[in-house]
Amino acid sequence: MSVKEETRLSRILINQQEHYSTWPDDKTGRESPARAAHTSDVTAAFRSEGCLMARAAFSAAEVAALEHEISGAAGEYHPEATVVEEGRQSVRSMYGGHASSPLIHRLICDERLMAPAMELLGDEVYLYQFKINTKAPLVGDRWPWHQDYAFWAHLDGMPSPDAVTVAVYLDEVNEFNGPLFYIPGGHRAGLHRCEPATCAGMALGGSDVSANLRFTLSADVVGALVADHGLRSAHGPSGSAFFFHANLPHASGLNLSPYSRRQIFITYNAVGNALSRSPKRAEFLVARSNEPLRAISGSLLAA
Ligand code: SIN
Ligand code: MN
Repeated sequence: MSVKEETRLSRILINQQEHYSTWPDDKTGRESPARAAHTSDVTAAFRSEGCLMARAAFSAAEVAALEHEISGAAGEYHPEATVVEEGRQSVRSMYGGHASSPLIHRLICDERLMAPAMELLGDEVYLYQFKINTKAPLVGDRWPWHQDYAFWAHLDGMPSPDAVTVAVYLDEVNEFNGPLFYIPGGHRAGLHRCEPATCAGMALGGSDVSANLRFTLSADVVGALVADHGLRSAHGPSGSAFFFHANLPHASGLNLSPYSRRQIFITYNAVGNALSRSPKRAEFLVARSNEPLRAISGSLLAA
């Protein structure tokens, strides 16, 4: 990697916070120079922790444009599938539809997301899945403990966990509005076996999109992993980008606060890790094209 690329990546990730549990004690968003990470440190941190936070990577104006685009009011974004919370009228998730919106396509190709994804995976990347989780104020539902790679390996035949997901925060995420919980370093144990008891949802017709997920981690596995590695939650200001490994155990709770928690989830797969057979799941869960994406630099709002 050239010095120029290294500097750029370091700048993108310079604000990574090592201990998110300290939030909101440090609300300044400033980091001490000692924390300024070089690319190699960033990659090593990702390998060790299974995640990276780029705080406020997108400006308020960029976030406002994304909010407008997905609001259904005037934007061009039209999801391919909309999931409603069980027993409630609120929208849980919107899947796919990225091709309908030049702004969303631009976001997916944004260098601030793609450069770290390519660096962390050591390859070119293509889009595997795009979704927006809207976790609405007071009614947003939970996501049980799981590893994303369980779905991609068992259902799609993804060869290895060489994929990374980035969550782009359209709202501040704090302890009240259902932050993502994760076990730092928990990805290093690989994919946990899916015991029949753990996969009760499968027998019961569990899904990939509701709180009744098909592949979840048992209480025993979560307990043992947390005893070894601890537990954190991915707090951050709006505009932040949280990258996480395909095997990172994660979950999130209800949103009982009056604050919304809207996050765009973009999964990039390494081109060398493309599926060798055509996927059986719907296109909104597994994008069909594995053409490498070309990164675009600059503001999302530049013409
Ligand atoms: C996911 O695991 O796919 C989503 C988790 C969340 O939105 O909290
Ligand atoms: Mn997940």
